[in-house]
Amino acid sequence: MQTNSKRAELTATYDWYRQMREAQPVFFDPNIQAWHIFRYDDVLRVLSDHATFSSDESSFLPPEYRNATPISSSMLRMDPPRHRKLRNLVSLAFTPRMVAHMESRIQAITNGLLDQVQASGEMDVIRDLAYPLPITVIAEILGVPAERREEFKQWSDASVGGDAESTPEDIQAIMQAMESMKAYFNEVFEERRAHPQNDLVSALLQAEVDGERLSNEELLGFCVLLLVAGNETTTNLIGNTILCLDEHPEAVERLRANRELVPGALEEALRYYSPIKLTIRGTTTETMIGDQRIEAGKLLFAWIASADRDEAQFPDASQFNIEREPNRHLGFGRGVHFCLGAPLARLEAKIALNTMLDRLPGSWHVSDAPLSPIKSSSVFGVKQLPLTWEK
Ligand code: HEM
Repeated sequence: MQTNSKRAELTATYDWYRQMREAQPVFFDPNIQAWHIFRYDDVLRVLSDHATFSSDESSFLPPEYRNATPISSSMLRMDPPRHRKLRNLVSLAFTPRMVAHMESRIQAITNGLLDQVQASGEMDVIRDLAYPLPITVIAEILGVPAERREEFKQWSDASVGGDAESTPEDIQAIMQAMESMKAYFNEVFEERRAHPQNDLVSALLQAEVDGERLSNEELLGFCVLLLVAGNETTTNLIGNTILCLDEHPEAVERLRANRELVPGALEEALRYYSPIKLTIRGTTTETMIGDQRIEAGKLLFAWIASADRDEAQFPDASQFNIEREPNRHLGFGRGVHFCLGAPLARLEAKIALNTMLDRLPGSWHVSDAPLSPIKSSSVFGVKQLPLTWEK
């Protein structure tokens, strides 16, 4: 088990969230001209009321900052009614029933990945399982070759990369990655227009909304949203679950003995170390949050990771409790943008954890070296996660 000091860099933001929930739960930062929202009830309201809190960048970003990534042109950054129409196009690919059909394929990919490490008694959970599993699954759904995984990873990292400490070189590298990703998908679109196949990209190319085909920007937005959303987040759910279990080794034995506890443990990991730290919205009209008056057209940071540790909603919020009930965490968001991939993410994480419990015996031990957090203002997870078990 890691000592707190070894996790200090990783978990420092949780201390900040607690202080802010207590002292300034609705806080305006003049440097970035944005409001930060920290309490559960307030974050819930922001996510649930799309009429007051818009997802459309034009409602809160100055023109020069809009359309920075292809995700800007995706449904994630739209409001109803267009949002609903675009979401309907892909929602059929992600219903619980469709996802259940993928169970045997996800199990086969997981087995293949663990075959490569099981005998050695050690693995890097991120490199060897948590990264390759979801990227392979989403690449197969989209119909793009999983062999280009390494590039997908660079593009996907770039799409969520960048934070207050990014240098101009970091930003330059991110922009370059975005350009090669666009070029790659444009090639795929050309190829599938000429030779349609039985995959999501071909279906999207044929699809019409209000009698019109999707624009290239919208198609790219779809693919990049699914590639990034279906990838980085699930990687971090699997990795963060192992971090939680490393802090609570007794839970590993309880889970091994009673697999019915696995889904609840994953929900608790989503709450405890939420893979998505925050999401953004803009006010369409003047409104009150708590005792603060917020003008129309203001950018809001809704801190999901803070809401999910709010004592007012979760008794003993700083305890990791695999049998927490109820557990109405906001890890997958809420309202019209509730995560479309939640059934898929839950299934992938359940299969990954169950297969690890089956095949990696004895107690698990995460390396005592300090863990490096991913550099991102929106994503929470670690870059590497070396794990050993008893052979
Ligand atoms: C939306 C989290 C996995 C696809 C969201 C939102 C959150 C989230 C918080 C809402 C964002 C907002 O309201 O601004 C997660 C987490 C995941 C995960 C924590 C893994 C543990 C996936 C997967 C897919 C996916 C596997 C697809 C393959 C999407 C899409 C949206 C979305 C398309 C946008 C939905 C919309 O705008 O209507 N996700 N996600 N996610 N997620 Fe996920």
